[in-house]
This record gives sequence, structure tokens and C-alpha cells, in this order.
Amino acid sequence: MPIPAFRRITLAAAAVAVATALVATSSAVAAPGSPGSPRYSPGAEGAGDPYFPLAGNGGIDVVHYDLDLDYTPPAPAPAPLEGTLNGVATIDLVATADVDRFNLDLRGLTASKVVVGGKSMAFEQTANELVITPRPKLKTGQSATVVVTYGGTTTRPTDIEDALYGWVTTRDGAMVVSEPDGSATWFPVNDHPTDKSTYSYEITVPEGLTAVANGLLVGSQTADGRTTWTWDAPDPMAAYLATATVGRFELRQYTAANGTPIIDAIDVTRTAGQVGSLARTSDMLVFFEDRFGPYPFVSYGAIVDNDSVGYALETQTRSFFSTSAAENTVAHELAHQWMGDHVSPERWADIWLNEGWATYASWMWREHRGTSSTATLFTGVMNRSATSSTWSTVLADPGPLGIFGTAVYDRGAALLHALRGELGDADFFALATEWVARYGGGTATTADFIALSEEVSGQDLTEFFRVWAYEPTKPTVW
Ligand code: TRP
Ligand code: ZN
Repeated sequence: MPIPAFRRITLAAAAVAVATALVATSSAVAAPGSPGSPRYSPGAEGAGDPYFPLAGNGGIDVVHYDLDLDYTPPAPAPAPLEGTLNGVATIDLVATADVDRFNLDLRGLTASKVVVGGKSMAFEQTANELVITPRPKLKTGQSATVVVTYGGTTTRPTDIEDALYGWVTTRDGAMVVSEPDGSATWFPVNDHPTDKSTYSYEITVPEGLTAVANGLLVGSQTADGRTTWTWDAPDPMAAYLATATVGRFELRQYTAANGTPIIDAIDVTRTAGQVGSLARTSDMLVFFEDRFGPYPFVSYGAIVDNDSVGYALETQTRSFFSTSAAENTVAHELAHQWMGDHVSPERWADIWLNEGWATYASWMWREHRGTSSTATLFTGVMNRSATSSTWSTVLADPGPLGIFGTAVYDRGAALLHALRGELGDADFFALATEWVARYGGGTATTADFIALSEEVSGQDLTEFFRVWAYEPTKPTVW
């Protein structure tokens, strides 16, 4: 046994050191009070996602967001493209740890008041975090209502790849699409898919403009030249799928063949050619229900805006399209409602489970329509040169700058087509429906998908997934 270091120092000094250590130890034990009582500590500043370390937070789980937003778009050009947003977010949450402090994500807007349990609380803001100090402290499992009053000037925020996202100010309103971590640009939020919540909205805008959010339209009321649009979204939703898009929209409401109420919001400047494919929505709902199981939400519909973020997004129950809605994209975003929205990625590294499925769904739709075939589209991907990023990317770990790369979409879809060949149609579609049934309403990982594929098929798929999902090379045998 080695001689402890303190035996080499003088007895007097050692005595002091021991006494100090005892004081420190006994005070640490005594700090929270009697044995078994809570030991409070601050909630983490992130949910633990390696790609986006500040996204989400530790120590809390949000149950419901009620977002009361008041928004005024920019004045006509040449005024700057900046709007004014004032919000009151009423957030029902549950503590998941004994917390003396917890964070919400908020970026670019300023909080002026934070109330917890009816009382004003101390808070601080850093670039991405709203740091709240609740008193009394929150015990694990305890519910609390947090009311944040906040606001500021809205701009045109960009994501890690410089693509527009979040609350994107437009001349006539705002395009609100927040994947992966842009919700913090418009409300205080636990901005990670592992915390799904229900939402309600009251969005007040100048009369003549329409505010379009997720779920069902409850109604609108106009007073003093401003209209308040009330929406209710009762299906648990990841924050990146929330929207509160504002513009000059015509609302078109009907019921799809499967019974789902549809609310499309079409910018008044759109031509029939730009939105004609939306007429296929009803047929697509029936088609995807056959493959993925019942449509999981209270409503569906599209937003087609006149400005562009350069991509479409599967905002839950109300997919967003920039300038026009092409048929393949309409199919892609609709399929995301099952694959991505109802079953969401546990970590952003798992995003191929969203994009691979949505891409493969659009391949199946094209085959159904007779415009291409899944075999042809698969061959097209496999014919890409060995040096393509489709093959040099590790599908299940594409890196934060690779989450919207071609590998995630096309190699993901090719994996699913190859898996279908391996399993046969019966097991493949049993896998698809069981995936949605088992993980719907929550999140899942690549490991969960592999495990379920093996469970449904009874096959050992270790080698298959190794070459398809974990190797930075083109699969040749599997
Ligand atoms: N998830 C969107 C889709 O595939 C795409 C998306 C979101 C995107 N943000 C992006 C694509 C940024 C390119 C750049 O439907
Ligand atoms: Zn997609």
C-alpha cells in the first residue's frame, strides 16, 4: 500500500488539513437538510445533444406552451426587413430533477418579466439562454407554470449552415420554420425533440393579415384594426415543428378522404400552377395510411408563402412550402408527419430516420403515380461515384453540418429500399407501421430502428446496417 502523501508533511499542517477536510465534508452533507431531502442543483444548459450542445435544457420537461404573440411586420420598402414581436409565453412544465435554477432557450429577443407560480422571479439572459431562478426551488416531479413576457425586433436568422430559419421576417409577415434549433428565435423554449409538448396560440397581427399555426383554427377576432388568430395544437410536438407564419393568406378548408380536416394557407399571390399539387393531398393521405398506419394528428394542410427560405419543412399538421408546392415535395412533407413528426429523432445524428423515410415515401408515391419506380430511383443513387458525399458520409452520424446533406436523404432512402429487398414487402411494411405505433408521440434512435427491424424480421441485420449506416464507403454487398 503506498504511503499517503500527507504523512510526509508536518504533523501540524496535516492536522489543519484534516480539520479543513472534515468541515468541508460535514457542511456538504448538511447542506440540503435532513437525509433523503432534495439536493438542488442547476438544470443543464443543453439537452445533451452533441450536435447542438445548447439546444434544449436539463431539469425540466415542458407539457404545454400557450403563446400569446403580437406581431407587426416591417413597413414597406425601403424600410428595413425588421418586425416587432411581443410575446407572453405561458409554459406548463414539470421538473425532472431537483432544480434551484433552470434554463429555457431564447435568442435575439429580450425577456422583461418571468413569473413562476404567480410570483416574479430573478432571471438572467445570455446569448442563447434564459436562466430562471425559481423560489421556492422545484422538486423532481413538481409542476410549475412559468410566464415569460418578452419581445424585440425580428430579423432573418440563419442556421448553422447559413440557411434562413426561425422567425424569418418577410415584407408582409413572417415565415416560421425552425429546424433544428430555431424556435428559440421566437419563444422561450426547451428546444430539443426529446421534449414534446402541446401548444396553443393567440397571434395578433394587423387586420388583413392571417396568422397560421399548427393544429386546428379555433377562430379569429378583429378589434381596433388588429386581428387575433387562435389555434389549438393538441398533439405532442417537437419545438422545431411549431409555426406561427404570418402573411396575406387565403385559408382553404376541406375534409380529406380519410376524414382528416385540411386547412391550407395559400399566399394570395400564388398561381394555380404553384399550388395545384396540393389537390393530391387527400389521395396521398390514403396512400401513406396504407403504408405507415393511421394519420396521427388532428388536422393537416399546407402553407405556401410568397417569400422563400430555400426549402420546405414538415411543420406539424401544416407543412411549409417556399413559393410553390411541387408534387414530390408535397408527398415528402406529408410522409414526414409520420416519419419525423410523430416519431422524432432522439438526437440530431438520427435525422436520416426522418429524411430517409420521407424521401423513400416520395419514391413510392412516384411509383404509384407511374412517373418513376423505386427500383429506378434506387439505381440512380447506387450509380453515384464512389467519391460522392452520399458514400463518404456516415449515415447515422453525418455531423452537424451534414444533417441536410444528400447522404441523409438519398443514402437513407436507398438503405430503406435495400432493407425492403432484404425483408420482403410484408415484413418491411410491418416494420414501418410498428415503428410508428411503437415510437409515435416520442423519439427513437438508429439503434431502436435496427432492433425493431431484427425483431420484426427475425433476421440478424448487423452486417446490413454496418455497411449502410455506419461505414463512410459505398455499400457493395450486404
Ligand atoms: N427538413 C426539411 C425537409 O427535408 C429540410 C430542411 C430544413 C433544410 N432545414 C434546412 C434543407 C436547411 C436545407 C437547408 O423537408
Ligand atoms: Zn424532409
